Amino acid sequence: MTNQAIPATSLPGPPVSRWFGFFPEFRQDSLGFLLRCHSYGDVAKLPMGRMAEFFFRHPDLAMYFLNHPDDVKHVLVTNQHNYTKTRVPPGESLVFGKGVLHTEGETHHHQRRLFLPFFHRDHVASYAGLITEKAAALATSWHDGAKVDIGREMTQLTLSIIWRLLFGRDVSSDATQVAEALTAGHYIVSKQYNSLLAWITPLWVPTTQHRRFFRGQQFIDGRIRSFIQNRRAPQHQNQNEDMLSLLLAATDEAGQPLSDKEIRDELVTFMIAGHDTTANALTWTWYLLSQSSTVRTRLAHELETVLGNRLPTAADMPRLLYTKMIWEEALRLYPPAWLLHARKSRAEDRLPSGVLLQADTRVVHSPWSMHRNARWFPDPNRFDPDRFSPEAKQARLAFSYFPFGGGGRRCLGESFAELEGLLIVATLSSKFRLRLVEGQTILPDPLMTLRPKVPVHMTIESVSTPEPHPTTS
Ligand code: HEM
Repeated sequence: MTNQAIPATSLPGPPVSRWFGFFPEFRQDSLGFLLRCHSYGDVAKLPMGRMAEFFFRHPDLAMYFLNHPDDVKHVLVTNQHNYTKTRVPPGESLVFGKGVLHTEGETHHHQRRLFLPFFHRDHVASYAGLITEKAAALATSWHDGAKVDIGREMTQLTLSIIWRLLFGRDVSSDATQVAEALTAGHYIVSKQYNSLLAWITPLWVPTTQHRRFFRGQQFIDGRIRSFIQNRRAPQHQNQNEDMLSLLLAATDEAGQPLSDKEIRDELVTFMIAGHDTTANALTWTWYLLSQSSTVRTRLAHELETVLGNRLPTAADMPRLLYTKMIWEEALRLYPPAWLLHARKSRAEDRLPSGVLLQADTRVVHSPWSMHRNARWFPDPNRFDPDRFSPEAKQARLAFSYFPFGGGGRRCLGESFAELEGLLIVATLSSKFRLRLVEGQTILPDPLMTLRPKVPVHMTIESVSTPEPHPTTS
């Protein structure tokens, strides 16, 4: 940190292509590229190349990558009003519409005010029964020695939970089509972020991927439309406490009821933001647990002490301390939101690191990169839940860890995700251990969320079977 103002344009950064800037290297290995940015100081300059300069009619166009937690805090919290999200690709815009994730200013404030009570810790706790019920049902379908694709299991589980939260009903027979639709959406959005060609190719061009994307969109939109129409019928009004009812009773800034399209945009936003992230966080948690018998043993001891033979409840949360440390460490190593949406400065601004940003400058911050920076987390690739003991947390800089973002755009579902993650880990770990099937290499794939590159196959073992290798860690 310094008193001197350093013009952002003078900062060092990685070598890049003259015409295409940092994009080719980023596209080839996004996660590795973001880690290599550590070596350029608190802020790394990422030139966008001549093509982008020409396209945006802006010389020396670059993004600025923040490596220091104080700078991240400044952009997300302290001076957040000076920053807006940058434009999103057409696919993302079509999927999310004007849901709370993508609006700005007064509209965004109004939407957040509507949702905050719903996601307040106390209200969220009322979903604990639903979560453990669904997790326990999954546990009854598992048996000792069975092999599962754990990512698939977690996605179906979290989808069944979010569907109930949004629509007050079970996803049941729709589950496969919903999952396919969401995968097609993910694919298009990630592709458009990674390729200028994909970004500028209109979605009406009938490629196989575009057709799959629209089929999925139509399916989800059709389902939501029928739920809305059904609930607008007089005999079904005021009978539910789900998100759909909240939205049907809500008004916009002008005091008008929300249109079907506005309701649809919010529901799709919560459906996507609210289950895929948690499913991936859980998948990584199981993977990490399978790698350390020491951690598994401490977890088993905590579950035995706190729960004995019963299912967990919301009231157990404060005592599931080690379970929470595991969850937090999994979110450090594999943050589902690995790269936050880029921000653009409205006016000139000076970061705590001393870097001076002009108006209209793009800044980027990545939980993945910050969480694996040895400046903030020594031996960063090691799985060690003790990093999240209350003392260790206290000793760290705020925003060296930010899996849920921060400030006025901090994740609305954070409490829900934590409750869901802890209850699912506790419910399933009380009965089973998951062992990684041998011969698999599990690497992260940075799509819209950070997910494993290949399905993670695991063998289920009943906890009544003793650990075969008590010293492996
Ligand atoms: C482990 C699970 C989750 C992670 C890691 C996560 C992460 C994040 C992050 C980092 C942001 C901020 C994005 C940015 O500033 O660019 C965000 C926003 C958001 N999240 Fe989550 N999320 C999770 C689960 C959930 C759940 C369960 C829900 C709802 C049920 C949810 C709903 C939202 C919404 C609506 C926003 C937009 C907030 C706004 O812009 O005002 N998320 N999430």
